[in-house]
Amino acid sequence: MKSSPLRSVLFVCLGNICRSPLAEGVFGSVLKAEGKAAGVLIDSAGTNGYHTDEAPDLRSIKVAQRHGVDISSQQCRQLGADDFTRFDLIIGMDRMNMTAIEKRRPANATAQIGLFYEVALGDTKQIPDPYYGTDADFETIYRMILAASKGLSVRF
Ligand code: 4NP
Repeated sequence: MKSSPLRSVLFVCLGNICRSPLAEGVFGSVLKAEGKAAGVLIDSAGTNGYHTDEAPDLRSIKVAQRHGVDISSQQCRQLGADDFTRFDLIIGMDRMNMTAIEKRRPANATAQIGLFYEVALGDTKQIPDPYYGTDADFETIYRMILAASKGLSVRF
């Protein structure tokens, strides 16, 4: 059965400075390239608020830039209760994010909630936290996010 196209998605990670800002930017560029971006709401948030109002991590900005995506003007924010009714889909990068998202889910939530690789590719892979990693780790998560974004775009 083909369900109707989704119109909004919120990408969520722990800090909202490494993975989810990259997912927001990369998924937006994939949808744009496919001519599907008009009217679609794409955003990102963190399950913690440690970096609220900060720009993305420089290593995420740089890896995005190397692949032609500008995420430098994004601003970190924390996941809120209203996100569960504002978005069609809330996506976690890893299972720890999923647990934290589920914990915050209010009773009136309408959003579908899922792990990025599971929702996009039917795969159990998680996007690993690159915060204490190297530039090569950021390239790896970029590639993973690009592959999952291409899978997810068929639902939009
Ligand atoms: P993210 O990475 O969840 O992909 O944004 C992290 C960013 C910051 C921290 C942890 C993970 N932190 O502990 O500050």
